Amino acid sequence: MNWDDETPDSATGADPRLVDAGADTEDTAVEAALRPKDLDEFIGQEKVREQLDLVLKAARARGATADHVLLSGAPGLGKTTLSMIIAAEMAAPIRITSGPAIQHAGDLAAILSSLQEGEVLFLDEIHRMSRPAEEMLYMAMEDFRVDVIVGKGPGATAIPLDLPPFTLVGATTRAGLLPPPLRDRFGFTAHMEFYAPAELERVIHRSARLLDVAIDAAGAAEIAGRSRGTPRIANRLLRRVRDYAQVKADGHITVEIASAALGVYEVDARGLDRLDRAVLEALLKLFSGGPVGLSTLSVAVGEERETVEEVAEPFLVREGFLARTPRGRVATPAAWAHLGLAPPQGAPGQAGLFPA
Ligand SMILES: Nc1ncnc2c1ncn2[C@@H]1O[C@H](COP(=O)(O)OP(=O)(O)O)[C@@H](O)[C@H]1O
Ligand SMILES: [Mg+2]
Repeated sequence: MNWDDETPDSATGADPRLVDAGADTEDTAVEAALRPKDLDEFIGQEKVREQLDLVLKAARARGATADHVLLSGAPGLGKTTLSMIIAAEMAAPIRITSGPAIQHAGDLAAILSSLQEGEVLFLDEIHRMSRPAEEMLYMAMEDFRVDVIVGKGPGATAIPLDLPPFTLVGATTRAGLLPPPLRDRFGFTAHMEFYAPAELERVIHRSARLLDVAIDAAGAAEIAGRSRGTPRIANRLLRRVRDYAQVKADGHITVEIASAALGVYEVDARGLDRLDRAVLEALLKLFSGGPVGLSTLSVAVGEERETVEEVAEPFLVREGFLARTPRGRVATPAAWAHLGLAPPQGAPGQAGLFPA
């Protein structure tokens, strides 16, 4: 799986995938209409919601600007949505930018110095910001101050500039990549988890209502089960199933329609797509379940190493279909069961690794 919003799988040379968690052009256009507008409308993530609710309520009661918030989690789980909700709940304007968009510290200084009091600054992919910008951000977050450097070389001087209090909302798919001094300056860190199927069903029902699509409970459950725990994917699959329902039926989404539609798009019952299944099938059929090295497995699938490792494997590992061991990739019993195959007796990958 690709964990950077800004680099969809298409950038790695593969076809865009229906189950990629990054936003494609269509998502970007549709998502604005589907985003929950306040915390009450935001589905799931109970812990994060409860904690954030307290942080925001307390700030409002004090008449103060909310503490800086760090949102960490995989793409498509609702980080951008939450940043907008934070601004809405604080009745504050929001400015949206991203780490890669800030090339120089000067870019950041320009943004910071034009913020209004109480404004929310959303910094997406904060782990991809440049070093000098990062250091400027430390001081801005802590003291609401930046040093603007005027001139070059030995004659350069730093002119301190006071900033109005603001709330920085940083989002990252990789909290581990953030330097500790930056992480420490957030008053509150929210770790976003993958969504349970029941939560995704609610997301799907809500989106269907907004898109004016008729769907029954079993239809929503069918789509939810294939959405990889990710609201963005759930919304995308819903749109594809809607297309199918309109063309092949009366537009009403039932479990039969949902499963037939996603069959056409090759997204299986657990949310695996063609690539995921190709990797699993090669591992099971050609290598008896492994262990097999990544390079060998990639050649067998006819894909780049990186594609197998970064696009397919993370989800297969997360779902418990594949394990990365020091001796190579190994299929789990769940993988054999999912593909409806019987593991060979005494397959090397099975012995001792997964006692029954
Ligand atoms: N908790 C949620 N409830 C309802 N819809 C959600 C939720 N989280 C995300 N979504 C939907 O999923 C899509 C992707 O969310 P987004 O905030 O852009 O994810 P991220 O920024 O983490 O990649 C949006 O269209 C949003 O409407
Ligand atoms: Mg986002």
